[in-house]
Amino acid sequence: MAEDLDKILEEFETRMTDIHSLLELEEMRVLFLGKKGKLTSLLKTIGNLGVDEKKEIGKQANLLKEYFENQIKAKNEELTKREIEQISQADEAFDITLPGKDFPRGSLHPITIVQKEIENIFTGMGFRIVDGPEVEDDFFNFEALNIPADHPARDMQDTYWLDNGQLLRTHTSPCQIRAMLKFGAPLRAIAPGRCFRNEKIDPSHENTFFQLEGLMIDKNISIANLIYIMKLLVQRILNQDPEIRLRPGYFPFVEPGFELDLRCQICGGKGCPTCKNSGWIEVLPCGMVHPNVLQYGGIDSDVFTGFAFGLGLTRLTMMKYGIKDIRVLNSGDFRALNQFKTL
Ligand code: FA5
Repeated sequence: MAEDLDKILEEFETRMTDIHSLLELEEMRVLFLGKKGKLTSLLKTIGNLGVDEKKEIGKQANLLKEYFENQIKAKNEELTKREIEQISQADEAFDITLPGKDFPRGSLHPITIVQKEIENIFTGMGFRIVDGPEVEDDFFNFEALNIPADHPARDMQDTYWLDNGQLLRTHTSPCQIRAMLKFGAPLRAIAPGRCFRNEKIDPSHENTFFQLEGLMIDKNISIANLIYIMKLLVQRILNQDPEIRLRPGYFPFVEPGFELDLRCQICGGKGCPTCKNSGWIEVLPCGMVHPNVLQYGGIDSDVFTGFAFGLGLTRLTMMKYGIKDIRVLNSGDFRALNQFKTL
């Protein structure tokens, strides 16, 4: 084995004298130190040696590796310097001291930033990220969510119907059913997405906005789990422990259902146009999944329970960044969006 090391060293030294470009140097690095390189391959076989030999050969091989790395580094510096000199001599107009061209850098949309943060939090807790179509069927948007055709709750969401009988989804809740049918129980999923409602627009209402659905189904899931996760979500996104209030809320697909409101971060609760002078913003309706919905999703409601929430992602983004008017977020106005460049 010691002889093999000597041979590798000899070959390395010989080849090194014949390296004249950065490309050749990189090929040389791969040949000796790459994943399948000569020295790397030898290092892999050291485990088969006896204890004493392993110690000695291992030490020598590591020293050799360090030596190769230093030699390659020094050669790299030398060749880089030489190539720059050659370029500047060949073309006198090329001045390497001039600053480079400044390419304008884009930025993520603030809603995307918050969405990614939430995805990180939830994937860290074992949730999968799921999706659904923006053009939905009545079945997924209403029927399977315990909202049959004659149910008054359909009036809560002003729907854009399409000529073919489909609709633009009014919420991300249809993703609950799609996820249940696809993955069964137990299930942990979130579904961020765009929703559409034929609504009068004001500082906190758009006709196109984002929600983020959450769903956790398992044996013995309780309201305590739901509240813990809801609080954690709001605290982590706002980086503080904001004032929230939980009150009963009616949604046919959960029982019991809750509305979780956040203290308006624009006015601090004094009242402003964003919160319609109430001091609170509705952001996080939630509840325990209705047994009918579990059954539509093909899950045995005698065995499993679950919670679901439908976060107003656009509104939470407004609260995080102090954006007073929801219309800014759909405006494509670079004066607003550029402020998120450094994030
Ligand atoms: C729903 O859409 C339910 N699907 C939420 C849900 C899911 C409840 C799971 C229980 C279990 P709601 O219509 O309240 O609920 O909308 C949810 C959130 O979306 C609201 O709290 C609000 O933050 C946001 N939202 C609703 N309409 C608009 C709008 N026009 N513009 C901006 N945000 C809106």
